[in-house]
Amino acid sequence: MPYYQKLGEMPRKHHIWFSRNGQGPTYKNEGIAYEHVITTEGFNEAYSIMYHLRPPTRVRNVKLLKCEELKKVTDSPLRHHHLKTANIRRKGDLYTGRVPILFNQDVVAYRARPEKAYDKFEYYKNGGADEIIFVFRGGGTLESIFGKQKYRAEDYIVIPRGITYKLVPDKVEEEDYLILESVGPVRIPQRYLNKEGQIKMGSPYSERDLHGPTELNTTDTEGDTEILVKDGPRWTVVTMAHHPFDVVGWDGYVYPFTFNAQDFEPITGTVHQPPPIHQTFEIRGYVVCTFAPRMLDTHPEAVKIPWVHDNVEADEVLFYVRGNFGSRRGIEPASITLHPRGIPHGPHPGTIMASRSATRTEELAVMFDTQHTLELTEQAVALDDDKYPQSWLE
Ligand SMILES: [Fe+2]
Repeated sequence: MPYYQKLGEMPRKHHIWFSRNGQGPTYKNEGIAYEHVITTEGFNEAYSIMYHLRPPTRVRNVKLLKCEELKKVTDSPLRHHHLKTANIRRKGDLYTGRVPILFNQDVVAYRARPEKAYDKFEYYKNGGADEIIFVFRGGGTLESIFGKQKYRAEDYIVIPRGITYKLVPDKVEEEDYLILESVGPVRIPQRYLNKEGQIKMGSPYSERDLHGPTELNTTDTEGDTEILVKDGPRWTVVTMAHHPFDVVGWDGYVYPFTFNAQDFEPITGTVHQPPPIHQTFEIRGYVVCTFAPRMLDTHPEAVKIPWVHDNVEADEVLFYVRGNFGSRRGIEPASITLHPRGIPHGPHPGTIMASRSATRTEELAVMFDTQHTLELTEQAVALDDDKYPQSWLE
């Protein structure tokens, strides 16, 4: 979780009367705001406390919309995959248009190229997972119960579970995302934090690079509001008796935040540095890394691209954003490669020599490495280049 933030009004201590003294409308003239705690991992880890105009428990109706279990493709051998996802047909809205690509018990990776901002349901909440939305293309405003905040291309938008939100894109026809639905909470890697919980100097980013909501969007409206709530495979329509964005203040460590990949400070050496230097987030069962534009290794005899490696305990996925990826051939923006355990991978033929005179790389890629085996969906197999496993032959 990021760091302590607060916005709006709140009482001077936890769990005391928050009398609004007749300022602004309040629910049934009780004259108070209603406290609401949002936690992670029970009550032991990060939390925020917000204050509502009306009790957030005023549910009028719940209705099961659908249940969609992910299906793995079972007849694929263990092999490397190259999925070309740039031209997936646009479909659905920002919530329902997500195409599942890879999954295991800890994470589901989706590509999303929505056709419209929302179809029937304007408001959405993931009740079962934290979401990391990487904005491949697009930009706009994230509106949530915590307030409003801008997002832009190459942002990671991290939305903890349980937070009702809507995305308001500037131009929906440009929106294009990679989404990682995380069963465990999304955290700043522990080794980047000092004993006080501050991000250490020398880490690839600091608190100033993480951006939370900038203004409240307190909405005081009685009347039914439908929220599309996803938990795992189940989609439920929850009808609230009032508008959910009725928060007048909040503080804590849990809130949606953005981090732009261009703010990732690369760590380089005289020879090639291993992938942990690119780590961005730590999640149960997997890590997210950012391969940002950077100076290449400066030793006069340095091999400036990665060594061949076996990921003996991990499946490795790269989502290529832009630039020329020095160690690969045939890769384009929005390509996804999956290099599983059991088969080594490394530079394509010719790329070692070609990198010899290079001093910089402009590549930008998002990597996620999972502890448990990733399964491919049918939608992923349809995008697969079946010649890729032999692409290391001269
Ligand atoms: Fe690798």
